[in-house]
Amino acid sequence: MMKPIIHLIAAFTATLCIATFFTSTLLVELFGTHETIAVVKNLIVMPGLFILIPAMAITGATGVALSKVKSGKIVKKKLKRMPFIAANGLLVLLPAAIMLDLWAASGLFDSRFYIVQGIELMAGAVNLTLMSLNIRDGFKVSGKLRK
Ligand code: HEM
Repeated sequence: MMKPIIHLIAAFTATLCIATFFTSTLLVELFGTHETIAVVKNLIVMPGLFILIPAMAITGATGVALSKVKSGKIVKKKLKRMPFIAANGLLVLLPAAIMLDLWAASGLFDSRFYIVQGIELMAGAVNLTLMSLNIRDGFKVSGKLRK
């Protein structure tokens, strides 16, 4: 069956995207200038979101498809995490990434920018945690990790 490998690649692509956005944001906020912050915020939207959004959609779709073939307690836990990952991504991370890019491009680094930046980092950490748990549980289900 082809699906687990597609699920695996999409899941790692999506998780790596979030981890990269998180780390590069933290580093450029700490050590960068307004100009380099604007570059990173722009790269996160394009090509970042252009890679992340399809990867996340494929991960969810193939995950749900796999759950029809393989079920059980661990799969149920993974399925339960997915709406939180999706809501956090679409309602917090996506609008935040777009707003921060627009504001940074216009040089608007006021308190509003840093409040949204803080919220984005927290939401990113939450999704990174939930996705890591899904990777761990995925390897448990596929037998690549001891239960
Ligand atoms: C961000 C979300 C997710 C991540 C990061 C993720 C990650 C993974 C990983 C790394 C594997 C191991 C694949 C392999 O060993 O080849 C896996 C397997 C699996 N995942 Fe997910 N997953 C996610 C969402 C879901 C969802 C929503 C479901 C639905 C319940 C799901 C169901 C499964 C199943 C059933 C397997 C076992 C595949 C098999 O061995 O046949 N996953 N997942």
